[in-house]
Amino acid sequence: MSSEQFDYASKVEVRTTADGSPTLYVPALDEHYHSHHGAAQESRHVFIEAGLRPLLAAGRGQDGRPLRVLEVGLGTGLNALLTLAAVEATPAAIRYDGYETYPLPPAAVAALAPQWATEPAISQAFAQLHAAPWGDATVLAPGFILTKIQAQVEVADLPNAAYDLLYFDAFAPEKQPELWTADVFATLYAAAAAGAVLVSYCAQGQFRRNLRAAGWLTEKLPGPPGKREMTRARKPT
Ligand SMILES: C[S@@+](CC[C@H](N)C(=O)[O-])C[C@H]1O[C@@H](n2cnc3c(N)ncnc32)[C@H](O)[C@@H]1O
Repeated sequence: MSSEQFDYASKVEVRTTADGSPTLYVPALDEHYHSHHGAAQESRHVFIEAGLRPLLAAGRGQDGRPLRVLEVGLGTGLNALLTLAAVEATPAAIRYDGYETYPLPPAAVAALAPQWATEPAISQAFAQLHAAPWGDATVLAPGFILTKIQAQVEVADLPNAAYDLLYFDAFAPEKQPELWTADVFATLYAAAAAGAVLVSYCAQGQFRRNLRAAGWLTEKLPGPPGKREMTRARKPT
């Protein structure tokens, strides 16, 4: 079933993952928004530690040049909120563009919110993120500007050579094959600045071949608990 066919987000169910953090389950796709081994654990490992942290360590996002992040699949906002938490105590600034085809309905946001109550890093900005308007830049915290963009990222009007860090967090290739093609990675390559980094929880061979066909240099890294490997790619400088 193609995820493009209907608004599956209107029929999601909250589930608890192995690290105690919540995720959403889409019955119609038989798919979760995160790994059942641990939603927060996976997001921290793949997007924050393998993607964001090395760039912050290299001093990126400072001196009046914010680090520009593109997320494919804003969903529950978990990656954006962990990014905010990771930079809060640093001098780095972030401009975060979260693309999402089907924003979560208020009922799903309301059902998720109490599940994050014990995670201060998430809970404090959760409501603010979901209340932010679509299509406008919103200051979530000093130095963190979020723009939620309702669009299919692969056909969106992406800026050229604009992003330093790309979080590729679509549903799995077998659930959403139309988003894991060389054409889509060529579109993201054009939107990426020279030296930009793309990270994904997925380590499939075909995924990495499609990235390379679009010009990305790829590497396999150890995955989060429950997954052997993940992928990090870089646009050559
Ligand atoms: C695996 S979930 C991850 C969600 C999110 N990163 C999170 O932590 O909750 C995939 C997300 O991608 C969104 N999505 C699916 N197709 C998309 C597309 N073509 N463009 C942008 N977002 C898309 C889905 O609606 C869903 O929210």
